[in-house]
Amino acid sequence: MDTKKQLGKAAIIFLFLIIAVYYLPAWKHRAEKSEESSIKVSSARTGFRFEYDEFCDTRFNSGGWVGIPNVSCDSTTRSVATCGQSHTDNWQWSSEALRCGAERQGPTEFQRALANRWIVVAGDSIARFFFASLLRLASHDSSQQIVYGHQDFEYTLPNNIRATFKWAPYITNLTVLLSNWTREGVSPDAVVMSAGLWHMLHIDDPADYAKQLQLLGHAIKDFVGGLKVAAAPPMSFFSISEVFPPKLKTEEKRKHLTYQNVDFYNEAIQESGLLVPDGALYLVDLHHLTQGCGPTCSHDGLHYSNATYDAALQIWAVNTLSVINS
Ligand SMILES: *[C@@H]1O[C@H](CO)[C@@H](O)[C@H](O)[C@H]1NC(C)=O
Ligand SMILES: *[C@@H]1O[C@H](CO)[C@@H](O)[C@H](O)[C@H]1NC(C)=O
Ligand SMILES: *[C@@H]1O[C@H](CO)[C@@H](O)[C@H](O)[C@H]1NC(C)=O
Ligand SMILES: *[C@@H]1O[C@H](CO)[C@@H](O)[C@H](O)[C@H]1NC(C)=O
Repeated sequence: MDTKKQLGKAAIIFLFLIIAVYYLPAWKHRAEKSEESSIKVSSARTGFRFEYDEFCDTRFNSGGWVGIPNVSCDSTTRSVATCGQSHTDNWQWSSEALRCGAERQGPTEFQRALANRWIVVAGDSIARFFFASLLRLASHDSSQQIVYGHQDFEYTLPNNIRATFKWAPYITNLTVLLSNWTREGVSPDAVVMSAGLWHMLHIDDPADYAKQLQLLGHAIKDFVGGLKVAAAPPMSFFSISEVFPPKLKTEEKRKHLTYQNVDFYNEAIQESGLLVPDGALYLVDLHHLTQGCGPTCSHDGLHYSNATYDAALQIWAVNTLSVINS
């Protein structure tokens, strides 16, 4: 009886040792790996990058997805633009951006800061996802507000915030919109624009895209010049999101939406002279945000997690709210 018991004990200890020897290194390796990948999501390619220079207006784009687990966005969490459980949920401003005064807006501050204002988001599906982020932050219950497909939307949000989405997938559509505003003498309090991927997909000509941007620039000048108000509304423009060709759903998309084209189109935006400080448009660097988040954040190689657009919204808000409330 006694020997049986002791044998049993020995067997259990032995088994435990085997398990420890086998699984401990694997477990340790996994822990190290997840720590590594949570610190920095490095991208496989080095392509075109926007320079943020010494200007705070563009520096608000500088930051990255960080591996702080389970960040909750309470009122003291200001340096992280979005919060959640994994590294693809938490986007944190760089120390340079923080020194410039970047800070996260909670729903209450955001709704207060935009009270009685009219925000227009015009562009492609990327702009539409951004518009959904705006509704998530500025509404009490955004589930009531539908945003999908190729159409316009308008909602009145708490604090009498007017939020308009204009489906305008091409730069030419944005140019027409601005010309109409100039002619009709209307002006929103803030404008957000995004267009490029449709041109890339259907026209595939960076030089023509650059030409369209110049025409948009003329329309912006006319619009700003014709305003009866003292200051022009803050206007923002998105860089082209990163694409992940292996994840794209159609052959046509894989053919045209290439890394190289993304770089060419972003270069055209950079060279256009439309961006602050040379031009009127604040850059919201969707490319930096989406490339940093990586393929795991995108189900179709083109559109990204809600957190990505939430971070874009916070970056946009830093410039826009400071202009609106100055
Ligand atoms: C984060 O929180 C979730 C749910 O509260 C929990 O399941 C998970 O283990 C937490 N992760 C870390 C790394 O603390
Ligand atoms: C993203 O936000 C929309 C509302 O804007 C919501 O319907 C959807 O469920 C969210 N997606 C995820 C994965 O949380
Ligand atoms: C946008 O522009 C394209 C090309 O000029 C045109 O075919 C399309 O009808 C326009 N769409 C909208 C919504 O204005
Ligand atoms: C611009 O104005 C024209 C003429 O009134 C109108 O047909 C068109 O729908 C307007 N487009 C936009 C985008 O506002």
